[in-house]
Amino acid sequence: MRVTVSLIKADIGGLAGHSVVHPKLEELARKKLQEAKETGLIIDYYVYHAGDDLQLLMTHTKGENNPEIHKLAWDTFVEATEKVSKPLKLYGAGQDLLSDTFSGNVRGLGPGVAEMEFEERKSEPILVFSADKTEPGAWNFKLYKIFADPFNTAGLVIDPSMHDGFIFEVLDLIEDMYVLMNTPEESYDLLALIGTPGRYVIRKVYRKSDREVAASASVQRLSLIAGRYVGKDDPVLIVRAQHGFPAVGEVLEAFAFPHLVAGWMRGSHHGPLMPVGLKDAKCTRFDGPPRVVGLGFQLHNGILEGPVDLFDDPAFDYTRRMAEEIADYMRRHGPFMPHRLGPEEMEYTTLPGVLEKLRTRFKKA
Ligand code: F6R
Ligand code: MG
Ligand code: MG
Repeated sequence: MRVTVSLIKADIGGLAGHSVVHPKLEELARKKLQEAKETGLIIDYYVYHAGDDLQLLMTHTKGENNPEIHKLAWDTFVEATEKVSKPLKLYGAGQDLLSDTFSGNVRGLGPGVAEMEFEERKSEPILVFSADKTEPGAWNFKLYKIFADPFNTAGLVIDPSMHDGFIFEVLDLIEDMYVLMNTPEESYDLLALIGTPGRYVIRKVYRKSDREVAASASVQRLSLIAGRYVGKDDPVLIVRAQHGFPAVGEVLEAFAFPHLVAGWMRGSHHGPLMPVGLKDAKCTRFDGPPRVVGLGFQLHNGILEGPVDLFDDPAFDYTRRMAEEIADYMRRHGPFMPHRLGPEEMEYTTLPGVLEKLRTRFKKA
């Protein structure tokens, strides 16, 4: 059976600033998706949050970019905004809903989307990741480790079905173009692009031997859509695991190093990406540090068996400790780069407003 997994998310209001999603928003979303399940529009769903982002994970048979599925997500966000965020005056009520009207697809309207369609295997482990206070390029490092670095993923060396490598689809967010790159043979070229995560982002990964889809990430940058600062994009990611794909543990291994990502306070700072369990999926210190949750499911005929809360595990305590140390180290730089982002990235924040005021004070040197 061909199944589509759609993960659609939006920040439609935070409880105490930008820290966490209000439980009533999740409750309403569950009710909406349960109704859609009963009418047969979707097969199954799971509602959760990562920080202040409401996450709608859905399975169905309608393929990617399906208007009915996207409308379901959009209507859920709109209704939750109207019935919960606005009356409770949650912070930034409806902030990611950039348009008043829905036009068949949530892409470009504010919410983040990752989707993939495939033939469900005899056993189909699916992992989903949701990050808060960072941008889509944050997955670049993880996806490279998972699908192209043999020091992370033993299967690239040992498993004949993965040994040919993977194909990375990389999007240039500025030029709105994409390129397919083969690993391992084009690894250095790939790294030359994705090492600039604010511009080049990995959208999809395919297994080279049979072009099976292995991973799908959300890629939109709201600031580039809206032309102004609208927070970071808090990306999502879907990964298939096992039996010719990286093992669950090889996927998770990439998260054991809390690499530096852009985002955090005011979308303007570099900080470590800290893996946490759902109970810690809230942003606190300096509106962060940037966090990622990971959930594991087994699909059976599109039903989501699970989840397993993958980072709710002492095996990641050391990573979290390291992240805390790095957070503290970075914080001590205060308003200085490289804690604060560089000028190019700051263009889409509130800083240009401040610099503009100073412009007339300058005299010829
Ligand atoms: C980061 C984020 C927050 C806000 C910060 C200031 O993505 O959303 O760090 O930027 O809390 O928010 P305002 O300007 O609304 O007070
Ligand atoms: Mg927010
Ligand atoms: Mg957020």
